[in-house]
Amino acid sequence: MENAAIQATGLTKSFGEGAAATLAVRGATFEAHYGEMLFIVGPSGSGKTTLLSMISGILRPSSGSVTVKGANLWQLDADDLAEFRLRTIGFVFQDFHLFPKLTTAENVAIPLVLRREDWNASLDKGEQMLAIVGLKGRGQLPPVKLSGGEQQRVAIARALVGDPELLILDEPTASLDGDTGRMIVQFVREHVLNPTRCVLIVTHDARILEFADRVVHMEDGCITAGTEKTL
Ligand SMILES: Nc1ncnc2c1ncn2[C@@H]1O[C@H](COP(=O)(O)OP(=O)(O)OP(=O)(O)O)[C@@H](O)[C@H]1O
Ligand SMILES: [Mg+2]
Repeated sequence: MENAAIQATGLTKSFGEGAAATLAVRGATFEAHYGEMLFIVGPSGSGKTTLLSMISGILRPSSGSVTVKGANLWQLDADDLAEFRLRTIGFVFQDFHLFPKLTTAENVAIPLVLRREDWNASLDKGEQMLAIVGLKGRGQLPPVKLSGGEQQRVAIARALVGDPELLILDEPTASLDGDTGRMIVQFVREHVLNPTRCVLIVTHDARILEFADRVVHMEDGCITAGTEKTL
């Protein structure tokens, strides 16, 4: 489809060998479009994180293909893939992956520093992003001094600082109470989503589904069904 930001076709991933092999994702096919907030919902262990990792260039599929912004991701060589990820995809990990020895502003600045942008300018942008996610003045603290919801917002700020077209969030509300979780997703809906961006959220939190444009279901490694607007 013309405005597809992501096209995943026949994605599979197996871990391990022989009798001990686990088929975590089995032939997942779906599209996500610019201007849309797509949710993937499914039970624990159904392969959601594995699927996201393949879509975002972190984990090589056993088979199948991923096209992001027209680029066939897994045909790129390692350097091109790293560069593409850095410029196009913001990823928020299920467990944040913040660096404990860096300040929160430094954590947010990492994608810019990796792009070889000026260190001080990157830190300034990091502070600005923190203000946008409601953490003004907290940039000098180490992440451990922040609450779970605040750390989640630092991870979102880091994913957004490079202005990626694709924002991918893995269980963004898993470690948050209901109100904070809804606020975070509402924030992404109102301040991040626009017609040139695509937001993909994996969750099993029914409380945030009202923010979805579209929901697809994942079960036992397969995308089983999709619906518009509602479950
Ligand atoms: N690196 C790995 N090595 C071996 N098995 C793995 C690995 N990563 C995931 N798996 C297995 O693949 C299956 C899917 O895992 P995955 O983490 O993708 O599920 P999930 O839907 O994200 O679950 P959750 O909702 O609990 O985060 C599970 O059975 C898991 O044990
Ligand atoms: Mg997961």
